[in-house]
Amino acid sequence: MDNPEIDETRDFWNRVADDWHIQIGTAGDSNRILNSDPVLWAFAGDVGGLRVLDAGCGNGYLSKQLSDRGALVTGIDISERMIAIARAQYPNVEFRVDSCAELRTVSDAQFHLVIANYVLMDTPDLDWTLQAFNRILHPNGMAVLVFSHPCFPQGRATVSSDGKETNYRWSFPYFEPRKCVDPPWGHFSSDFIWFHRPLSDYWKAFKASGFIVLDFEEPRVAEERYHLAENSRKLTNCRTRPYSVAFKLQKKNRAE
Ligand SMILES: C[S@@+](CC[C@H](N)C(=O)[O-])C[C@H]1O[C@@H](n2cnc3c(N)ncnc32)[C@H](O)[C@@H]1O
Repeated sequence: MDNPEIDETRDFWNRVADDWHIQIGTAGDSNRILNSDPVLWAFAGDVGGLRVLDAGCGNGYLSKQLSDRGALVTGIDISERMIAIARAQYPNVEFRVDSCAELRTVSDAQFHLVIANYVLMDTPDLDWTLQAFNRILHPNGMAVLVFSHPCFPQGRATVSSDGKETNYRWSFPYFEPRKCVDPPWGHFSSDFIWFHRPLSDYWKAFKASGFIVLDFEEPRVAEERYHLAENSRKLTNCRTRPYSVAFKLQKKNRAE
């Protein structure tokens, strides 16, 4: 596939892979732990014995957790450096360099479940990615897709001094899909590349590639997890900011 943005995406993630590994560690960052991982596991259900593709696996923390729960996991990522880190961390899990938009290393109908955790807003080619996910799933196979909430950009969010108000600043029209470059955040030293699309573009891509939507959630911290927050600022952020969306999709039968 000839798409210069794919090459740019690979180069970008190769550059930030080691910083990403520090950010995510072996358990995921606080957004994952507090907000989205519980929804991801609820949507995935019992993965024991299932063949699961962790698409855009990054440093492999989720692949390892899936494997610990009895899934037969393959992690793929476009970044060679990410895959090197994942292999070094978890030598007993299978990892491959591949692009979600192609999945060249995967033949048709191989997997029961595909999980893409914070990947779809990072890949330039949404339609090809959804088509590839559909292709490699068994009939009636499932996809669990968690990605940054497209309506609430966190990069430029500001919170008032009393913490009562959160403002989201848009520097372009929401309805215009585009490549975005955010300044470095946290301990990252490199600009961040991602791809904005309105929420309805995701929905249309799911439908066009042959999925039906079974469930949808905007993950937020549940009270019984408050104690896991590192500090009160992180807890307030999790209680007030919609960081992500989560979809559970099913591959439609051809006959339907
Ligand atoms: C935000 S990180 C998420 C990593 C991991 N899923 C997690 O939850 O920590 C996005 C990952 O998607 C990968 N990625 C982006 N576009 C991709 C593509 N087209 N194919 C495969 N991986 C891709 C990046 O290399 C990066 O590792």
